[in-house]
Amino acid sequence: MPIRVCLAGATGWAGSELARGIAATDDLTLVAAVSRTYAGHSLGEVLGEPRLACPVYPSAVEALANRCDVFVEYTKPESAKGNILAALERGAHVVVGTSGLTDSDFAAIDEVARKAERGVLACGNFALTVVLLQRFAEAAARLIPQWEIIDYAHDDKIDAPSGTARELAARLSKVREPEITVPVESTVGSREARGASLAGTQVHSVRLPGFVISVEIIFGMPDQKLTIRHDSGSSARPYVDGALLAIRKVSTLVGVHRGLDSVLDI
Ligand SMILES: NC(=O)c1ccc[n+]([C@@H]2O[C@H](COP(=O)([O-])OP(=O)(O)OC[C@H]3O[C@@H](n4cnc5c(N)ncnc54)[C@H](OP(=O)(O)O)[C@@H]3O)[C@@H](O)[C@H]2O)c1
Repeated sequence: MPIRVCLAGATGWAGSELARGIAATDDLTLVAAVSRTYAGHSLGEVLGEPRLACPVYPSAVEALANRCDVFVEYTKPESAKGNILAALERGAHVVVGTSGLTDSDFAAIDEVARKAERGVLACGNFALTVVLLQRFAEAAARLIPQWEIIDYAHDDKIDAPSGTARELAARLSKVREPEITVPVESTVGSREARGASLAGTQVHSVRLPGFVISVEIIFGMPDQKLTIRHDSGSSARPYVDGALLAIRKVSTLVGVHRGLDSVLDI
């Protein structure tokens, strides 16, 4: 039996590429899609992909009237949490691609998911090179006590820091709290210039035309530095394979798990 998927944000930049990726598999089938603009149409008609016959609904609640095994959230930060909780209440496992959810959002979602005995796999970035950056950074943090993160994105990205930067800071906080030589509150001048403190890490967000999505972590030691950086291009292709893997594996989890490496053998 193929895994039945409901995809919220199926007409968006990332969601439409994922929908095409699902159409190309034998083991996944899209049963419903969400987009306010294209509600009432078939997704195949909207995306020019005849293999996607599922209807488009204006809300996740309406789309979830179709039974699905996995709900994929790929809309916007302001609608994401409500959609995820609605899916869990209806017995679906959830893959979260949308960025901008906070640690306290995830704590609330975790509580509901554990009660429902369902898995939630949240990846701020499904690209393999980001998954590797996370792993390499965790290894570096075990040996180097000081680091900061810079996240770069297009000028119209509304959330800051990016999901990728948040996830990285959260993961590193489990390795250790980074040391800071001059505490931010003792900064002379403008405190904001030291960035946001996220799970103990200073994070700086650059939003300018010319960038797509990049994230950089700099580890500093006396007289030596290590920089690990990921850059993605302008297509949503890098996110498809990771999202397909997450859809296939999320039913093996219970509660919230962050990062694709929860289901990858690396
Ligand atoms: N995890 C990853 O690897 C990854 C990769 C790329 C992007 N992202 C994140 O994924 C999210 C989507 O990015 P995107 O670039 O694809 O955005 P986008 O192109 O603006 O697409 C958003 C999609 O969500 C739908 N939508 C938005 N608000 C909605 C609402 N209130 N109710 C129902 N549908 C709604 C939109 O359709 P309508 O406007 O017609 O409703 C559209 O289909 C962002 O948070 C982004 O940062 C994550």
